[in-house]
Amino acid sequence: MSKTKKILALAAAGVFALTLASCSSSGSTSGSSDGGAAAGADCNVGISMPTRSLERWINDGDQLKKLLEDAGCTVDLQYADNKTDQQISQIQNQVAGGSKILVVAAVDGKVLAPVLAEAKKQDATVIAYDRLINGTPDVDYYATFDNYKVGQLQGEFIEKELDLANATGPINLEPFAGSPDDNNAKFFFSGAWDVLLPYVESGVLVVPSGQSPASDDDWASIGIQGWASDKAQSEMDNRLSSFYTGGDKVDVVLSPNDSLAIGIEASLKSAGYAPGADYPVITGQDADKANVKAILDGEQSMTVWKDTRTLGKQVFDMIQEIVAGDDVTVNDTETYDNGDHVVPSYLLDPEVVVKDDVQSKLIDSGFIKASDVGL
Ligand code: BGC
Repeated sequence: MSKTKKILALAAAGVFALTLASCSSSGSTSGSSDGGAAAGADCNVGISMPTRSLERWINDGDQLKKLLEDAGCTVDLQYADNKTDQQISQIQNQVAGGSKILVVAAVDGKVLAPVLAEAKKQDATVIAYDRLINGTPDVDYYATFDNYKVGQLQGEFIEKELDLANATGPINLEPFAGSPDDNNAKFFFSGAWDVLLPYVESGVLVVPSGQSPASDDDWASIGIQGWASDKAQSEMDNRLSSFYTGGDKVDVVLSPNDSLAIGIEASLKSAGYAPGADYPVITGQDADKANVKAILDGEQSMTVWKDTRTLGKQVFDMIQEIVAGDDVTVNDTETYDNGDHVVPSYLLDPEVVVKDDVQSKLIDSGFIKASDVGL
């Protein structure tokens, strides 16, 4: 997308010239009375993750914590159980405890402005992790995978798999979208819908349930709150029992991620669908172990893999730059307007994984173990 550009570290430039190596690995620096930047204070990082209920966030948190602690930083890692109030009070505690750099994967990207304003009063630098934080001047950087591209890869996969360019249809599609409070969800949907909507408009794809947003902007109408598998499952149950009564079959499901795909697959299974020629094409995202197993078993067609180790490493590098007072490396200064400003971002590349890639991409790289997926 856009070229690599260097942006001046806003909060820490020139103030702290310490390198990570000089950071203290001791505990909280709150209450330090010297009024200055006590050694370790600037390398004191609060990480706020949305939930432990999804494998990816556990991996993300553990990995970033380890990288930082190995470099001598003080780290406070918290999980918010997908609750906004909990996330806000955890961030408040981190700031009170002396965190000078906050890494936040927001539960709801629209409600953190007041707590980040408090953090700014304590000179904290704020990095939005994976999900953008909206409506605040107080987010300095954003590191994520290219979210539009995630959806585009899903849409293009469906297009290719069903040869939509040459098909006449009608092919039965059921689309889903992610959690309405997650800023990423609209990017995932737009990426996919920009590929698929023309085929819906031409009648090649039809949506028997009627759950077909007329434009990218209407995505939230089919959003699944909290990315919950059980909610996706009951939504799919409803669609199947109400609109697929006369022997009609679902041919393809646009699922934005793996947690939704798992629920959708459970629903299809209980409605009698089994892997084989008539089984629908189903997309996903994250390469969660259960979904990789489903791919191997023919119950899911693909997943969009985001190697979260590279995201952790990118954020670690950003923190190193911030602490050293160096320019922070970003590669996108156009895409992510949070309603206050365009947040300097680093976008990483997602990639498609299908059955044949599981060994070479996921297992050989150490992302998952063969034994995790029954190999
Ligand atoms: C992340 C996805 C994840 C979803 C649900 C999104 O913000 O980018 O990787 O599947 O949240 O946790």
